[in-house]
Amino acid sequence: MKKERILVTGGTGYIGSHTVVELQQAGYSVVIIDNLSNSNISVLDGIERITGIRPDFVEGDCTDIDTLRKLFTDYPGIKGIINFAASKAVGESMQKPILYYRNNLDTLLNLLDLMGPEGVKGIVFSSSCTVYGEPDVNPVTEKSPIKKATSPYGNTKQISEEIITDVIAAGAPFKAILLRYFNPVGAHPSAEIGELPNGVPQNLIPYLTQTAIGIRKELSVFGNDYDTPDGSCIRDYINVVDLAKAHVIAVERMLTDKSEAPVEIFNLGTGNGVSVLELINTFEEATGVKVPHKIVGRRAGDIEKVWADPTYANEVLGWKAEASLADTMRSAWAWQQRLRERGVM
Ligand code: UD1
Repeated sequence: MKKERILVTGGTGYIGSHTVVELQQAGYSVVIIDNLSNSNISVLDGIERITGIRPDFVEGDCTDIDTLRKLFTDYPGIKGIINFAASKAVGESMQKPILYYRNNLDTLLNLLDLMGPEGVKGIVFSSSCTVYGEPDVNPVTEKSPIKKATSPYGNTKQISEEIITDVIAAGAPFKAILLRYFNPVGAHPSAEIGELPNGVPQNLIPYLTQTAIGIRKELSVFGNDYDTPDGSCIRDYINVVDLAKAHVIAVERMLTDKSEAPVEIFNLGTGNGVSVLELINTFEEATGVKVPHKIVGRRAGDIEKVWADPTYANEVLGWKAEASLADTMRSAWAWQQRLRERGVM
């Protein structure tokens, strides 16, 4: 039984909470810090119902270094950090760039600043396929060119990758693994935790499940005139539990000195490109529930098509996306129904 303590920043959020479950089930002891700006404290109950263990929790903001200093004092022996604490809405980042740069970069700088003195061996950073922009060739590998970011959100991911690389090149006594997520979707199979966006969802799946249950009248499909087989955009939708498992492997790799380089980068996707219209069909077939939808104009800033070549993660991490898209859609639907049962929405 491993007992090392792992700090999960943003651990009550969507990907964070699923990762906490997988860490606990792998025997790690977890402390979460979250400012609850885009998540709810009741997520801790969901985690506890799944694993039987309530993770340690600090309500606080990682942009405040004194809060982090106190956390390291109160919870000694943290050996790894997984950093999910960040703002993530592309559109909002266009309106509030300073908030995005401050939140995402100050958090990272504070963590990097404290890791050495606190004896933390490694950090896993949540990056994004957004760093590839509109790729010239699909699927994208880790060696595909990085394109100029099209939003402050995307830029914070690029800059964060560079900051981590620079800090480690300067001799920092820890390692890093940068995980470039494609489109995380679905929920835990228990339906105890899932995605819970504030307000009107911007992302496809929460909008789709809210439409299926009747909260939204219809789903808008943003464009059917792209250069794709059915004209709608193509993404690589990766099950959130599969994604969470990759974080446990990454932590383990750094803590057991298996990293092949001080900074490693992995794409986390399925390798399958799926269009918006295909995704709606898969949801309807998997759940038997119709999703009213209409084609509208393109959304500004959308990428036409991007999907992963996950070979490197498959071979080096021994990780592979396993869930079928149909099962993933059923999990998203079960979660939406659970929210209804609980009277959340
Ligand atoms: C975006 C970001 C990604 C970020 C993610 C998290 C880019 C290029 N991508 O992903 O980096 O991590 O948000 O917030 O900046 N769609 C509809 N109708 C809807 C909503 C979405 O048709 O109501 C379509 C979109 O046009 C897109 C697909 O569904 O083709 C997925 O959209 P979304 O879930 O918002 O994710 P991305 O834009 O791919």
